[in-house]
Amino acid sequence: MSADRWAAVDRYISERLVDADPALDAAVEASAAAGLPPIAVSPPQGKLLNLLARTMGARRILELGALGGYSTIWLARALPSSGRLVSLEANPKYAEVARANVARAGLADVVELRVGAALETLPELAVEGGEPFDLIFIDADKKNTPNYFTWALKLSRPGSLIIADNVIRDGAIADPDSDDPTVQGSQRLHEMLASDEAAGARVSATTIQTVGVKGYDGFTLALVG
Ligand code: DHB
Ligand code: MG
Repeated sequence: MSADRWAAVDRYISERLVDADPALDAAVEASAAAGLPPIAVSPPQGKLLNLLARTMGARRILELGALGGYSTIWLARALPSSGRLVSLEANPKYAEVARANVARAGLADVVELRVGAALETLPELAVEGGEPFDLIFIDADKKNTPNYFTWALKLSRPGSLIIADNVIRDGAIADPDSDDPTVQGSQRLHEMLASDEAAGARVSATTIQTVGVKGYDGFTLALVG
């Protein structure tokens, strides 16, 4: 089974099940024009994020890693008008592109973009002491995914959903000898979830492998209990 076939099937799905959204198309175009890496979630994955947020009636969403704002728009579209999405982005250039894309989507009043390394902006969010987030999407630098997960737990409540993107990376997660820090990040997340340490006692989680236009990867979905 080839990557071409996976991409063709993603197109098949997108053409039938993913409604056209000019703001999302424009976000992809503007992100490419600005030289951002083409690593945003795929259209079917974006719709999955949107469906999950709507299913749980999310009112407050936290995103780690805005990139050009593509997943940000998908998630923010799921919110009621009184809802709020905070997105953390380390790269000021990416944040600028995301801000323009979010504004073009008519979501500037719903989305707050915070520029800075998430390990610095997350403690600030905690100190501000706002309401817990209903859904937290972790999609930033992969080596820190377990650290972000620990922060996500602090900023959530029982019933919150935490989603971590890119935890499979071509199956490398199953290689116990990997010296790739991003792979070790995924492995560490799973060790946390498997143990009583920090996360394990408080969440119920699974990880789903995926193929598609972005190759072979996967995501972890964790329900805070
Ligand atoms: C990369 C990052 C992502 O968030 C993703 O979905 C795919 C790839 C990357 O850094 O290579
Ligand atoms: Mg990703």
